[in-house]
Amino acid sequence: MTVFGVDAVESAGTGELVVGAKDIITPLARELARERGVRIVVATARPAAPLASANQATPVGSATSNGSTHPSPAPVTPVFTRSSSNDAHTPPAPLRPPAPALYRRGAPLHPSVAPAALHQPRPRRPEGAGTGKSVKRVVVVGAGHVGMITAMKLAEANIIEEVVLVDIAEGLAAGIALDLTHSTALLGFDTKVRGVTSLAEAGSADYVVITAGRARQPGMSRTDLVEVNAAIVGGIAREAAAISPQTVLLVVTNPLDEMTHHAWRASGLPAERVIGMAGVLDSSRFQALTGLAADSSPSAVSALALGSHGDEMVIPLSQARVGGTTITAALPEAKVTALVDRARNSGAEIVGLLKSGSAFFAPGASAARMVLAMATNSDEIIAATVRAHGQYGIADGYVGLPARLGRTGLREIVELPLAADELAAVRTAAARIAERVADLERTSAPS
Ligand code: LAC
Repeated sequence: MTVFGVDAVESAGTGELVVGAKDIITPLARELARERGVRIVVATARPAAPLASANQATPVGSATSNGSTHPSPAPVTPVFTRSSSNDAHTPPAPLRPPAPALYRRGAPLHPSVAPAALHQPRPRRPEGAGTGKSVKRVVVVGAGHVGMITAMKLAEANIIEEVVLVDIAEGLAAGIALDLTHSTALLGFDTKVRGVTSLAEAGSADYVVITAGRARQPGMSRTDLVEVNAAIVGGIAREAAAISPQTVLLVVTNPLDEMTHHAWRASGLPAERVIGMAGVLDSSRFQALTGLAADSSPSAVSALALGSHGDEMVIPLSQARVGGTTITAALPEAKVTALVDRARNSGAEIVGLLKSGSAFFAPGASAARMVLAMATNSDEIIAATVRAHGQYGIADGYVGLPARLGRTGLREIVELPLAADELAAVRTAAARIAERVADLERTSAPS
């Protein structure tokens, strides 16, 4: 095993750094590689040459490329590419760290790394230069568990200048923000984190994530929450749009589909700028459960959860894959049906286990993922609660559909070739959501 430090990346210039599957790349080296656009590739088999030590400036890959006598490296598998070309039609390559590599910024270095590497100064930003962060401010409303995890994941991504947590409970958001700020040096990010008690204090925002509202208690359905949460979400959406007319609202509060519609109506924003988070969470749950069942990595499972965030959730099996194969080829039908049911009921399963409150790690991570997808203009197809205008035969209404998100919200609803029964189920979900929305509008019309 070899440890590659920043010196190895520096030697690679703007080319490739070839490492073995068991090698370690230090966090600083990985960060430098990202900054300089150096591709880190993993050789699928190691040449039988002596390995470079951690302190040697020239690792295997660059030795071959500069004409030394090392044998040519074996075929390589790209694992990380930072390319400036942004072909809108090419899905980004998965970011996959080499097996045992330390890829978290600030993670402890391997003991064989020269201690000097620990003290290498990070390149300093020249005075007056921009922060290099692509988003100015994200406001997360509600400093409960979901809001807290959302803020944490957003701050750690280190591409947002400031994350502001808002909660009416005096001191709660400020305390969490300070606690998060205490982890900045430890984890190597420098996003500013602030906690306040009102949207006005938070200031204008590129994105506003609405997590505020009551959480489900055991035995409570998402719909039981509707009236109380509509009042909360409607008020926040209105105020957020007044403060930041160009903002994008991401709704997380339950019942998700109805609250997304309600936020859209209350805010007066275009539907492309009011999106709901649920499909990312439900898809991730299905991926995790299927990975466990198939004894496979969850990230080798691809699937999208569409329809509603509730009983009408639809996971189209025609689109689901495990590794290179269809899910129905990978697992028996009864097992797949049980997995879909378990994913659909995962929120309630966690409520039942926790006894008080509901899930927060995966929901918070999902909300942050959606903001980051927008902030980075990601081209990936993700499941989101969006307003259809004829797509999938749905005339007009919010429902979970495959979508591409961009800086200003919804870019495109992607029409996948669903099987006839899957398409019918998605349309039924849209119809049920529309009925519940009509009930809600009768009782709490946003004025
Ligand atoms: C859940 C809540 C967030 O599904 O709806 O866990």
